[in-house]
Amino acid sequence: MQRTTSIHGRWSHRWVFILAAMGSSVGLGNIWKFPYITGENGGGTFVLIYLLCVFLIGLPLMMAEVLIGRRGRLSPVNAIALCARETSVSPRWQLLGGLGMLTGFLIFSFYSVVAAWILHYIPAMAKGVLAGAGIQQTSRYFEALLVSPERLILGHSAFVWVVMTVLALGVRRGLDRAVRIMMPALFFLLLLLLIYAANTGYFKHALVYLFHFDLAKVTPQSVLVAMGHAFFTLSLGMGAIMMYSAYMGRRDSIGRSVLWIGLLDTLIALMIGLAIFPIVFASQLDPASGPGLVFITLPVAFAQMPAGQVLGFVFFILVGLTALTSAISLMEPVTAWTVERFKVMRWQAALIWGVLAWLLGLAVLVSFETMSSLRFFSRNLFDWLNYFTSNLFLPLGGLGLAIFVGWKLSRRVTESELHLQQTWLYLAWYFAIRYLVPAALGIIFVANLYNII
Ligand code: TRP
Repeated sequence: MQRTTSIHGRWSHRWVFILAAMGSSVGLGNIWKFPYITGENGGGTFVLIYLLCVFLIGLPLMMAEVLIGRRGRLSPVNAIALCARETSVSPRWQLLGGLGMLTGFLIFSFYSVVAAWILHYIPAMAKGVLAGAGIQQTSRYFEALLVSPERLILGHSAFVWVVMTVLALGVRRGLDRAVRIMMPALFFLLLLLLIYAANTGYFKHALVYLFHFDLAKVTPQSVLVAMGHAFFTLSLGMGAIMMYSAYMGRRDSIGRSVLWIGLLDTLIALMIGLAIFPIVFASQLDPASGPGLVFITLPVAFAQMPAGQVLGFVFFILVGLTALTSAISLMEPVTAWTVERFKVMRWQAALIWGVLAWLLGLAVLVSFETMSSLRFFSRNLFDWLNYFTSNLFLPLGGLGLAIFVGWKLSRRVTESELHLQQTWLYLAWYFAIRYLVPAALGIIFVANLYNII
């Protein structure tokens, strides 16, 4: 029953799987979300809670995704169906794969709009368009950009085109090569920023902000935030990691790979915090400015720093790279599934979905301009897509997967596929996937649902 390779291909090395999964998980969530929620929720105490959530909830769920993906060696829909058949449970569970593909496609369509903003800022930074600007100017600049689709359409198209090309080239020549080039580049740029930040004289402030202990700020709400973020930042719930696991080596250790991915994702999130906050503090800005951090607050800092032009340029290339590697993983499941289902060539599948995503992205772009007419409940298309996918579809998908793997799949399958060295480790995982993960995701889902109504 155990396939050694997928019909789609295979990673060239054990580490490429880890790099690819990191590429998926390191995204905008790491850049703007992790640093500021950490600051808002008690610094070091929050980091500890978050780490606990990564280990108790995130990694067990990731192991579940990896084991299905590697066992099935196909897109989530068919990998789930295969595992279901192996244990004689209803193949209907493959609907989870379908939900995941839809979620990935929808996230991608607004991700590329964010990418278009980033692509706009790269040359803007290099040219010093915002040199000397204050917070009013940068907000106005960003707001004006939002409602000018004509200035963004090129970036949006270019982004979709690059992702489409990587997907069309396939696992070995496309995805494998892309992450092997982009992930080291990302790491290198991050290191450059970190070195700069360490020399601003505000490095200690950032350390204190991120690592001081403040138990008073820990509330049930902040635990909920930590749980949600541990889950979101690891790209779980939609089958991206499952898909990448289909290309993994037969004998590679799932436990060890997953541990590396969790540790490295957290390390990068902390490094980004340590790179960004000294720059923010050096310009006396507010670090807790949320989504505006990347496009409004940081540009002010860059506008006022020595060598800020170069710094801003490097920073936005870094952000762009993280968006790109995440975006590839959003579209790979649906591409691979189309190849399996309709027996088309890979480039054809990539082209179809690329064009569809481009069109939906276009609608998102325009939805900012026609905000007044298209807004309902004061949210536009972008907000709705973001809200439904991140807050409802992803937790729902994760919840379904945990129930499927923990309660439906036979222990024989999970035990042999995980192949953990110690029995107690397996039992700990089994407990987590049966009780902890469903409980956590159930709470997250209900809380988000409650927030919406
Ligand atoms: N993990 C990404 C981040 O931290 C966001 C994300 C969530 C994602 N689910 C995903 C990216 C699925 C790619 C695929 O920003």
